[in-house]
Amino acid sequence: MAGMLDPALTTIASSAVTDGLAAIDAASTLEALRSVDAELLGKAAPLSQLKASMRDVAPEQRKALGQAINEARTRLELAIADRHAELEAIARREQLAAEQLDLSEVIADRRVGHHHLITQTREMLEDAFVGLGFTVAEGPEVETDWYNFEALNMPAGHSARSMWDTLYLDAGEPETVLLRTHTSPVQVRTMMRQEPPIYIVAPGRSFRSDTADATHLPVFHQIEGLVVDKGITFADLAGTIEAFVKVLYGDDRTTRLRPSYFPFTEPSAEFDMTTATGEWVELGGCGMVNPNVLAHCGLDPEEWSGFAFGFGIERMAMQRHGLDDIREFVTNDIRFLSQF
Ligand code: DAH
Repeated sequence: MAGMLDPALTTIASSAVTDGLAAIDAASTLEALRSVDAELLGKAAPLSQLKASMRDVAPEQRKALGQAINEARTRLELAIADRHAELEAIARREQLAAEQLDLSEVIADRRVGHHHLITQTREMLEDAFVGLGFTVAEGPEVETDWYNFEALNMPAGHSARSMWDTLYLDAGEPETVLLRTHTSPVQVRTMMRQEPPIYIVAPGRSFRSDTADATHLPVFHQIEGLVVDKGITFADLAGTIEAFVKVLYGDDRTTRLRPSYFPFTEPSAEFDMTTATGEWVELGGCGMVNPNVLAHCGLDPEEWSGFAFGFGIERMAMQRHGLDDIREFVTNDIRFLSQF
């Protein structure tokens, strides 16, 4: 019948479509799709060859064949266009993802600084003592022999001077100017500057000719306390130490005093506190201000009495945070510092 298409030719056209659609679907990139396009619609494509064979086909079948080929082409072209749009959208999404500025990462990486653990501890101590009615005093780190030793009841040649390995400065007469070995000279400066009643704490750096090890640093921090008033007793000292330890560590901690010796206090004691697990740890030294010290500072020991104490801030921080090497404070390892 005129116009009826040879079934063999129909098969070629319809399998060109089936295979073509499968190939289009399988193209996973725009580049792959371009070569699929060339394979399906280019000169060597089955449909193109079919078209080329038109001239061998009976004239009455040509129209039908031409139509079948055009329909097949159109289906493939549409499928390619769809797939192209799909792949383009995927590529755009991927490119956007690749170019996206990961702001969350920038924020996470931006380290906000904070105070060093020693500064934090010092401020905490200051707050605790201010809460108990003390004010904060300061003194110079470069001191004279007189403030650091002599006024504190250690005249030249006094054996107790060997309790501190002193760093002298090359200034003035030999061994007259030094880096203060403790914060105790601030006691002297305060008493000379201000009339009692005196209730001060003096935090600050101290210096000793020590080799750094797990428990020593040549430069470290102390906090000194001084109370001078009328009728101050040893009980006031013991009560104050108990009070600030409870403020800082909680009511379950307690303190004790053990007899000791310091030239600037009489009697003298060392004070310990209990740890979370109930052991005793030493915190510092204390005692009643030696009458000789009051007299050196121009105060009448018959009229005034007082107590003093001093302890290491590093040791306090180590105790609070369970640290076992004091050198961590000055190594400046960000992994250590950022923990506090
Ligand atoms: N200055 C002493 C030291 O560095 C500590 C000290 C002990 C301070 C007794 C005091 C005190 O005020 O009364 O070893």
